[in-house]
Amino acid sequence: MLERAPDGVEVFALGRPELDLADPASIRRAFDDETVDVVVNAAAYTAVDKAETEEALATRINGEGAGLVAEAARGLGAPIIQLSTDYVFDGALDRPYLEDDPTGPIGAYGRSKLAGEEAVAAANPRYCVLRTAWVYSPFGANFVKTMLRIGATRGEVRVVADQVGGPTSALDIADAVFEVAFQLAAEPEPEKYGVFHMTGAGEATWAEFAEAIFAEAQELGRAPVKVVPITTAEYPTPARRPANSRLDGGRLARDYGIALPPWRDSLKEVVARLLAG
Ligand SMILES: NC(=O)c1ccc[n+]([C@@H]2O[C@H](COP(=O)([O-])OP(=O)(O)OC[C@H]3O[C@@H](n4cnc5c(N)ncnc54)[C@H](OP(=O)(O)O)[C@@H]3O)[C@@H](O)[C@H]2O)c1
Repeated sequence: MLERAPDGVEVFALGRPELDLADPASIRRAFDDETVDVVVNAAAYTAVDKAETEEALATRINGEGAGLVAEAARGLGAPIIQLSTDYVFDGALDRPYLEDDPTGPIGAYGRSKLAGEEAVAAANPRYCVLRTAWVYSPFGANFVKTMLRIGATRGEVRVVADQVGGPTSALDIADAVFEVAFQLAAEPEPEKYGVFHMTGAGEATWAEFAEAIFAEAQELGRAPVKVVPITTAEYPTPARRPANSRLDGGRLARDYGIALPPWRDSLKEVVARLLAG
């Protein structure tokens, strides 16, 4: 968010240890005496597999914690933008999910994030939940970084080919969040409140995503890496993942005029940045 802040926008970045979403008192304290136009909650307990054995903690952070941030925003007279996830769905649908499709998380992380969506909506009527998926960026741990690391030492990588989603650059998310924030700060029409889907345009399986990463890396001088498609059953994890993570971005385009770029274009920039060191 910080590097994408438009000119004239001041961003106050809050986080641990001052603001711990598991600690209600620290949330209230962090927003004391602040004057802000919009509050964004991008923080979350994101350890999807670990959440299966730590659901209470995940829910305290992603559920109650998110609700308290939304409440603090309301106390400041500010709208709240809450980042959420495709994991609120079970992934069984055979088309991209619309915002009003029934939720039905199949794991603890998804349940905790859904609890957050509900808590945010209950705490602050001026809310915008932005559900995204398959996020990668030059920062933090993510699929693109993992593939580049593994691919540096192996000529072949096995990747799941029966889950589909919309790979999404965190840089594009940051740009979109600022645009949403501008529009929310301007006392908008009621359509701008509620739940919206926001992913990179297009779709891919994890295996196709990996192939694109290695293709970009090869263009920049890395040795080729072969992707061997495997099934989810061949790569068991403690938490189940939705088979279909595609989110329909039509509502965000209609009500905010925002459409994220094709994921393949955004990937180019991130791979180039990562390989440049
Ligand atoms: N990654 C994806 O594919 C994906 C997909 C859909 C939605 N999302 C959503 O997008 C948002 C960002 O995800 P991400 O992948 O960027 O996550 P991430 O890399 O795991 O970063 C999570 C951030 O949340 C902070 N955090 C964790 N627990 C906290 C707590 N108790 N109090 C305060 N801050 C806490 C972490 O701070 P520390 O540095 O202190 O640990 C970290 O800065 C989340 O809301 C996530 O649910 C992500």
